[in-house]
Amino acid sequence: MSTRTRDLTDADWWRTAVVYQVYPRSFADGNGDGIGDLAGLIDRVPYLARLGIDAVWLSPFYPSALADGGYDVDDYRDVDPRIGTLAQFDELVAALHAEGIRIVVDIVPNHSGSGHAWFQAALAAAPGSPERARYVFRDGLGEHGELPPSDWVSHFGGSAWTRVPDPSSGSGRGGQWYLHLFAPEQPDFDWSNPEVREEFHGILRFWADRGVDGFRVDVAHALAKDLTEPLPSYPRIARDVLKDDGTDVLFDRDEVHEIFRGWRKVMDEYDPPRSAVAEAWAAPSRLPLYARPDELGQTFEFDLVLEPWDAAAFRRSIEVALERARAAGASSTWVLSNHDIVRHASRFGLPAGTDLNAWLLSQGTSPVEDRERGAARALAGSLLLLALPGSAYLYQGEELALPEVADLQPEALEDPIWERTGHVEKGRDGARVPLPWTADGPSFGFGAGGAHLPQPAWFGRYAVAVEDADPASVLNRYREALAVRAGLLAGEGVRFVDGREGVIEFERDGGWRCITAFGAPAELPPGEVLLSSAPIGAGRVLPADATAWLRDPA
Ligand code: GLC
Ligand code: CA
Repeated sequence: MSTRTRDLTDADWWRTAVVYQVYPRSFADGNGDGIGDLAGLIDRVPYLARLGIDAVWLSPFYPSALADGGYDVDDYRDVDPRIGTLAQFDELVAALHAEGIRIVVDIVPNHSGSGHAWFQAALAAAPGSPERARYVFRDGLGEHGELPPSDWVSHFGGSAWTRVPDPSSGSGRGGQWYLHLFAPEQPDFDWSNPEVREEFHGILRFWADRGVDGFRVDVAHALAKDLTEPLPSYPRIARDVLKDDGTDVLFDRDEVHEIFRGWRKVMDEYDPPRSAVAEAWAAPSRLPLYARPDELGQTFEFDLVLEPWDAAAFRRSIEVALERARAAGASSTWVLSNHDIVRHASRFGLPAGTDLNAWLLSQGTSPVEDRERGAARALAGSLLLLALPGSAYLYQGEELALPEVADLQPEALEDPIWERTGHVEKGRDGARVPLPWTADGPSFGFGAGGAHLPQPAWFGRYAVAVEDADPASVLNRYREALAVRAGLLAGEGVRFVDGREGVIEFERDGGWRCITAFGAPAELPPGEVLLSSAPIGAGRVLPADATAWLRDPA
């Protein structure tokens, strides 16, 4: 049953949408092989409808060798057979749309997977061929080309170049090198090649024609590179070397924005126009460029994922994000968790300043997280962001306050970061462990079989069925919040109320307000309590680590 009446023809839906990220291999497994799939997801559409989200963002579900969790795409126009079929994809779109839920798919344009037909053709073709010109192949340096063409490094560690055998020598002798800013199984496209640009226009149309409502654009800032010879030096990827004038060697070059203006034209061929959100790590002053109306429309705001549980820090990041959205004529995007970062229920349960990678390497033993406090803060933080103007991106499991799985054993890890960094960085698998749906059973209800990443014994406590039955659970607070929010949203206005340390309070258009007590309890102002993340104490005191929404007295 559903009471949703969301209008699927509304062109501006994305401005205020609550978008729920599904990492398909870890959401629900329909056939018991341990890998989440479309059948499992279709089965859970009623759960998503009951949660009250506006859209699903589906992380890559394409055929892939899984060198990087599906972000190594071998065919952009198909579904991985382990995940399902195109017919099931269509079924999923229909099932979501029937509930008034939109679907956003992940587009990975910086690189393909190494199994992609184009890359295979490039390997078989000669240097200088049109096949190689779709990627970035270069001769090596040194007397015999034995050194990489430049000092560029991969995000996952090591050189960004890998050498291939010379296809004409027949002896496997060394040939050219190709560029991969991520894993070697993720060769970068050459976006100065018009064939690549055309191909992606076709891919956008392929999914838009199937009813997809929007796109999440992976590493949007990286597509254009300075490939003039000799290749410029760029030995380190870091915030402090990133240029903010559109001329950086590898990131956020001006040509990137020209590419997305082309995408906007394609997305505007549809009625309603397709939406998009950029995953871009650019200089702060240039983030709004991606969100301009003639480009993608939105860009993720990631400042908050780096902030500790602290009122002043939150306030600063929120104001910066609101300002950037205003500058672009966009709406802001609130994020606390996704598949690349330690879950916020755990981050907020650890002492401020904890080195998260060191914590993961200690198997979660040092320091020990305070799960109860983490869950309270995580919910309070999410309710705070859900009260702000703009759209919110939730990551599967955060509605359960699911903690990070910090004690995955090295043998279980799938993230290429672990091997590529020589076991210095543990990687992102702890946020990608398959969801618990029931308190027990072979994989806590994820499927009839196992789970591709091992679930810890304590997972059952956070299961959907357990929280569903508990009126005080985090899951039921999320449901309530999304329902209340849908009735409150009106206007973009937000006015902060100053004066109380450790508290964030703001009024919204339409006569309501949100208050979060960070460090210490805070007395609530007058007005009906619409929702609170924790019980309100005597004397209308909001406990520490809690958020409440209030209707202002008439
Ligand atoms: C993005 C994805 C991440 C992936 C990378 C390479 O940052 O979110 O999961 O590893 O791009 O595609
Ligand atoms: Ca499966």
